[in-house]
Amino acid sequence: MGKAHNLRHDGQMTFQPPTNLTIVNHPLVLHKLTLMRDKNTPTAVFRQLLREISLLLAYEVCRDLPMTTRHIETPVAPMEAPIIMGKKLVIVSILRAGNGLLEGMLDLLPSARVGHIGLYRDPKTLQPVEYYFKVPDDIASRTTIVVDPMLATGNSTAVALDRLKEKGAKNLRLCTLLAAPEGIERFHQAHPDVPIFTAAVDEKLNEHGYIVPGLGDAGDRMFGTK
Ligand code: URA
Repeated sequence: MGKAHNLRHDGQMTFQPPTNLTIVNHPLVLHKLTLMRDKNTPTAVFRQLLREISLLLAYEVCRDLPMTTRHIETPVAPMEAPIIMGKKLVIVSILRAGNGLLEGMLDLLPSARVGHIGLYRDPKTLQPVEYYFKVPDDIASRTTIVVDPMLATGNSTAVALDRLKEKGAKNLRLCTLLAAPEGIERFHQAHPDVPIFTAAVDEKLNEHGYIVPGLGDAGDRMFGTK
């Protein structure tokens, strides 16, 4: 895990990264991400890799969860054993690509509650349009991890977080696979209280709002729709 430095794949830094940005640049994550970026990687392999990476990302996103202890008895002796405090987490998937990250997270956090937010990006304006919103009623009292693999313009992710805060969500974290500097800046301006976790920060967005070099359309690549 690293704090943001040396961000671009060519080693240059073009923006001031927020201090609450964490780049999960573990060798396993970066290796799997490279395989995912390759345009020749087939759909089934892409999906499997995403599932594996999301598990590794979840490990970091959960690193600072508050702990308490529980009295148990091992076969050898009683002990006060560490256990995660509070209610089960909520994972909110930004449809549809968020579902790829969601599956791996649920492998690690099987009891988590799950929410879904449906947003699509208007291809002309690049602005988000909401078509679905369903999250647990008691989200205000739970830690919430929002999963959205591509933080591109940051517009739709920022809007999704607006909606979650309207519902009372307070303790929020954002987990992405790839981020563009533009998306990080936009998101951080809107939600400076929300820590961002990502496997990599790429160079820029292109004129179509795609992350460069990126991996293409994450939804299309995981579902084989193009
Ligand atoms: N969404 C994607 O799936 N890919 C990008 O590069 C940008 C947004």
